[in-house]
Amino acid sequence: MQYEVLFVSQTGNTEKVATAIYDAIPDGDKEIQRLNDHTPLDLAETYFIGFWTNRGTCSFEVLDYISDLHGKNIALFGTCGMGNDPAYFERIEKQVSAFIPEDNLYLGTFLCQGKMPICVRNKYQELLEHGDNDALARRMLHNFDTALLHPNEEDYQRVRKFVEEVMLKIGSYQ
Ligand SMILES: Cc1cc2nc3c(=O)[nH]c(=O)nc-3n(C[C@H](O)[C@H](O)[C@H](O)COP(=O)(O)O)c2cc1C
Repeated sequence: MQYEVLFVSQTGNTEKVATAIYDAIPDGDKEIQRLNDHTPLDLAETYFIGFWTNRGTCSFEVLDYISDLHGKNIALFGTCGMGNDPAYFERIEKQVSAFIPEDNLYLGTFLCQGKMPICVRNKYQELLEHGDNDALARRMLHNFDTALLHPNEEDYQRVRKFVEEVMLKIGSYQ
């Protein structure tokens, strides 16, 4: 197998990005599947590994899998509730990519915003009504409502560009 897209997704956002990544990989020897505890290693030369952001990082199954890969090309992708904050995206990338062993070729991370469950909005609404930090509550409510629109067509365009860049990197490093 040349390309393997593996992903973890609870509510479907990361799955959508995974599918867009899969579609953007040139036709040929490629596969897409959910990553779980039973996913075998050594499936492919190049991996696209996707996660949803959980408390600033990703789930242990993703970190465990990444930690066990050697001699591979690895690109990461993910979705998160927070948007419009490149510094936050950078922190997530660092948290996750730090687990890639050094004998792999790390090809970069694609991140975009993904909608969150309505219970999250209710929490911010409560904060607005009963809390003492109106500005923060309003900012978080605004962020929540913006996230409802993601991933969107602009994100998918960025996905296609990301895959193109990854392909170029693999080409130029081989
Ligand atoms: C328990 C939990 C923790 C989360 N933690 C974060 C977080 O730390 N930062 C963030 O930006 N989004 C966070 N989110 C939002 C999700 O990462 C976001 O909605 C993501 O797109 C979900 O992807 P999925 O649909 O593939 O499961 C969290 C969501 C849940 C349910």
